[in-house]
Amino acid sequence: MNFSSDNAYGAAPEIVQAMAAAGISPEPSYGEDQFTKRLSSRLAEIFEHEVAVFPVSTGTAANALSLATLCPPHGAVFCHAESHIVMDECAATEFLGGGLRLVALPGAHGKVAPAAIEAALPSFRRGVHSSLPSAVSLTQATEYGTVYTPVEVAAVTAAARKAGMAVHMDGARFANALCHLGCHPADITWRAGVDVLCFGATKNGACGAEAVIFFDRAKVRDFEYRRKRSGHLLSKMRFASAQLLAYLESDLWLHHASRANALAAQLAAGLAAVPGVKLAQPVEANEIFVYLPEALANRLRSDGAAFYDWEPPAAGRVLARLVTSFATPETAIADFLARIRPT
Ligand SMILES: Cc1ncc(COP(=O)(O)O)c(C=O)c1O
Repeated sequence: MNFSSDNAYGAAPEIVQAMAAAGISPEPSYGEDQFTKRLSSRLAEIFEHEVAVFPVSTGTAANALSLATLCPPHGAVFCHAESHIVMDECAATEFLGGGLRLVALPGAHGKVAPAAIEAALPSFRRGVHSSLPSAVSLTQATEYGTVYTPVEVAAVTAAARKAGMAVHMDGARFANALCHLGCHPADITWRAGVDVLCFGATKNGACGAEAVIFFDRAKVRDFEYRRKRSGHLLSKMRFASAQLLAYLESDLWLHHASRANALAAQLAAGLAAVPGVKLAQPVEANEIFVYLPEALANRLRSDGAAFYDWEPPAAGRVLARLVTSFATPETAIADFLARIRPT
C-alpha cells in the first residue's frame, strides 16, 4: 500500500531493457548519438511540430535550466504558490537563473489563472526598481493533481503574451494530464501558446530521464551552454534517450499514465464514500488530496500504508496526499479501502 509517490516505484521493464540494449558499442557522445537523434524525430511526430529536444536526468534541472533560458537574471517568473519550482527545488531556478525571481501566485486547485497574472503585474512597473516579468510557469498536471484544459492553458498564455512574457510548462506528470483530457499533445502545448515543455518520464516509468522540449528554436538561445555549465550535459546521453524512446514506443507512456489515473479514480471513489473522509481537490490525474481523520491516518500507517501529510495535522484531521503510479498493484487499492473503517 505504497501511495507515497510515483517516484517510489521503480522503472518499467521495457525501459530497463532499452537501456541495456543501448549497449556497449561505440556511439558519438554528448547527444550526437543515434538514440538522441531518433528521440527528436519521434517527439516532433508526437507533437506535430518542429522541436528542439534536450534530455536531462532530473525534473529540477529541466525546470531550472529552461526557465533560466527564458528569463534574464533581472526577470521574474510568475508561477503558482504551491508549484514544485517554488516549494521543492531548493531555489534551483533562482540559482541557475542568476538571481531571477519567482513570484508565487494564489489560485484555486493549484492553477495559475489569467486574473492572478494581471493582478500581479502592476507591482512590477517601477522600471529598474522591480524585476522584469519575463515568464509564466504552469504545472501540468498541477501539484494538486488537477489538470488545465486546453482552453485554460490558452487563457494563461494569452495573458502572458499580453505582458510580453514567455510560457514554461512543468510536465513532470504531462502524460497523466494528457490521458485525463484525451486531447492531442499539441492542444495543451505549442498550439495553446506554450514555449517550452519539461516533458517528464521518470515518475511514469523511466529510470531517470526528462526531455526539455522547445517549440521555437529561436528560444533555445544559450540553453546548451547552461546545461553544460550546470553539469547536466550527459556524456553517454544515449542511455537517457533510449529510456525516452522506449517510453514513447507503442504508447507505453500513455498506457502507464492511464493505468495510474484509473487507479487514482478508483481509490478516490472508494474514499469519497467513507463518512468523515473528504476529497480536498478534484481527482483528475494520479494524485489524491484527501482529508482523513487523524486517528484513521495513524491506523492506516500502522497497517502498512505509506502516504504523505500535505499539511501538518490540525483539528483532528490530516490532509493526506496519495499517489498512484504505473506499477501500483491493484490489490493495494483494494487493501487500502478495506482497511478504511469508521474509527
Ligand atoms: C511537479 C513536479 N515537477 C518537477 C519535479 C522534479 O523532479 P526531480 O525530483 O526529478 O527533480 C517533481 C518531482 O516530484 C514534480 O512533482
